[in-house]
Amino acid sequence: MQKIHAAITAVGGYVPEYRLTNEELTTMMDTTDEWIQARTGIKERRILKGEGKGSSDMAVGAVKDLLESRGISPLDIELVICATTTPDMQFPATANIICDKAGLTNAWGYDVSAACSGFLFALTIGSQFIETGRHKKVIVIGVDKMSSIMDYEDRKTSIIFGDGAGAVLLEPNTDGFGIIDSVLRTDGSGRVYLHQKAGGSVKPASMETVMNKEHYVYQEGQAVFKFAVKNMADVAAEIMERNNLTAETVNWLVPHQANLRIIKATADRMKLSPEKVMINIEKYGNTTNGTLPLCLWEWQDKLHKGDNVVLAAFGGGFTWGSTYIRWAYDGVNK
Ligand code: UT7
Repeated sequence: MQKIHAAITAVGGYVPEYRLTNEELTTMMDTTDEWIQARTGIKERRILKGEGKGSSDMAVGAVKDLLESRGISPLDIELVICATTTPDMQFPATANIICDKAGLTNAWGYDVSAACSGFLFALTIGSQFIETGRHKKVIVIGVDKMSSIMDYEDRKTSIIFGDGAGAVLLEPNTDGFGIIDSVLRTDGSGRVYLHQKAGGSVKPASMETVMNKEHYVYQEGQAVFKFAVKNMADVAAEIMERNNLTAETVNWLVPHQANLRIIKATADRMKLSPEKVMINIEKYGNTTNGTLPLCLWEWQDKLHKGDNVVLAAFGGGFTWGSTYIRWAYDGVNK
């Protein structure tokens, strides 16, 4: 019998309506539209507004979109894995809240925390449940409300992040389509360059941590940039090599959207022509766990059965990785 692969059979997405433009950022901090575009490629990012709204609300939008496009019921879903750095609460897991809000009452679920590589990690985990035959329908979500941990007085960091959610449905495929291979890496010594200082068990929230702005993202941008450029390109090259892929046979690169310069460095290393690279950073900025599924969501009508799709990400942890997918269906027009 042919090996069971986990194939993506539907994609859903959700971005909040509010557009935080570079122009508006200039009223909040000492920056310019020119600097942001030249250094990052970002023009605007979406922000989730509204009291009591969190990551789960965006994820529910993406899940509903996915279910509708596949034409299945919420009750068909067996497992939900949610990759997020901005969970609704410290506990319970956001996946549980999503299942409740979206009516996925037959599913079990949990969260995965791996910063910007979280979606790739969760995709690999989700694929195992399909490959072993344990489940037939698994939803993997990447979502972040980065605005909830952003210091809008920190011009070096806050300009790159935004809010958004994407989700994919995994189902078994025995015709050789689906998730073929993954290279995933972790180096915890990189945590010094990108983290949130307080709110965890090492430094619980206190008046002092709030006053010191320790619940926001702390990033040493240049250091992260150097590691990202090298490692994201390295794993993308590695996955191509071990799957005998070439610049000609790769149809699409789906890169994490943190900085246009990092994306271009990865594409150059793979020797890919620009039209094969999914880029929407100018509209959404860095939505952390949301970037990869949001690219798939936006490009799904251009994807064809049999396309060789390479995903690559790098983020806090450090974590990074690359996944090779042989796309399983002809795209749907949204
Ligand atoms: O997705 C998770 C992983 N994260 C990443 O991959 C992010 C990687 N890092 C980056 O993308 C870039 O480092 C940033 C976009 C965050 C920053 O760009 P940079 O080119 O590395 O800028 P920098 O921090 O080295 O700052 C260069 C100069 C500094 O001025 P001086 O000290 O040379 O006078 C900054 O003060 O640019 C200044 N600067 C700004 N100027 C205008 C920094 N931020 C801004 C700003 N507007 N927003």
